[in-house]
Amino acid sequence: MNHSISLTVNGARRDFVLDDPRVTLLDLLRERLHLTGTKKGCDRGQCGACTILVDGKRINSCLALAISHDGADILTIEGLARGDQLHPVQAAFIAHDGFQCGFCTPGQIMSAIGMIKEAQAGNDPERIRECMSGNLCRCGAYVGIVDAVLDAQGRMDETNQRRSA
Ligand code: FES
Ligand code: FES
Repeated sequence: MNHSISLTVNGARRDFVLDDPRVTLLDLLRERLHLTGTKKGCDRGQCGACTILVDGKRINSCLALAISHDGADILTIEGLARGDQLHPVQAAFIAHDGFQCGFCTPGQIMSAIGMIKEAQAGNDPERIRECMSGNLCRCGAYVGIVDAVLDAQGRMDETNQRRSA
């Protein structure tokens, strides 16, 4: 039996017919929309490479059934930049060498954006490490990742303060 769902993906509405209710958001993004920036590392919720934002919250898309998210608003790594202008977290990862091979980087960046929104880590590097602990990096680029998150968080706070002033 087929199931129809609609998602908003990076600002655009997309309609899908699913012939299998077990299709994950990760496979839908990668195989149906060819948005391959979201990576499949473990496919079992252990590495964070597949992290995306769903309705503003970070999730492991390999564990999320697409059929359970009908109507959801999805943001992936491909939806962050505005033309040539990188998202502050993307720019900070480059500035602080927050990657080596880059495989985990889309998940790290999406997770960092979700974590900054959650506003639970403050400026404490230890808390940031803890809040990002679901995102593994085989290259061990953790020092740069934490520096990048701290920097981006500070810039985003400043921007928000300017907007509300
Ligand atoms: S691919 Fe989803 S957590 Fe590893
Ligand atoms: S940069 Fe290679 S796995 Fe993280």
